[in-house]
Amino acid sequence: MTELFAICATYEIDDGDARGFVLARLDDDGNKKPWPILITRQANNFHGFENACPHEGARLDTYPGEFFDKEGNFLTCGRHGAKFDPDTGACFIGPCKGKALTPIQIVIDDGDVCLLDVPLAEEDGLDVEDPNEMPEVLITGD
Ligand code: FES
Repeated sequence: MTELFAICATYEIDDGDARGFVLARLDDDGNKKPWPILITRQANNFHGFENACPHEGARLDTYPGEFFDKEGNFLTCGRHGAKFDPDTGACFIGPCKGKALTPIQIVIDDGDVCLLDVPLAEEDGLDVEDPNEMPEVLITGD
């Protein structure tokens, strides 16, 4: 069964903007760990990434200044200024040029931005059944 976890409503992220969230995951030893992610939006295209700079692991949104430029062209890590493509997460300027943010799989479901099949430590989100698991409708010729 596919599990969805609603992060936020689509309208909560403006077009050409990005927003960070801190979720909780379980590590291999079963310990709860904070899991910072960010979601970018360009028109109706949403992309999700782990919020950890490939240079030194900093969260992109924890330093002063805007981490997403006003035109929505790039994300900036406030620590040393690396710039990333908001669609692919690829770093094109800065100390980690050639590396990329780690993508996370998201889907839009009924107006919500949702994580797909990510085991989280807290289950207070929206679990939605896979629509493909609904009973099949049989059409007979009688
Ligand atoms: S930690 Fe992000 S550019 Fe250095």
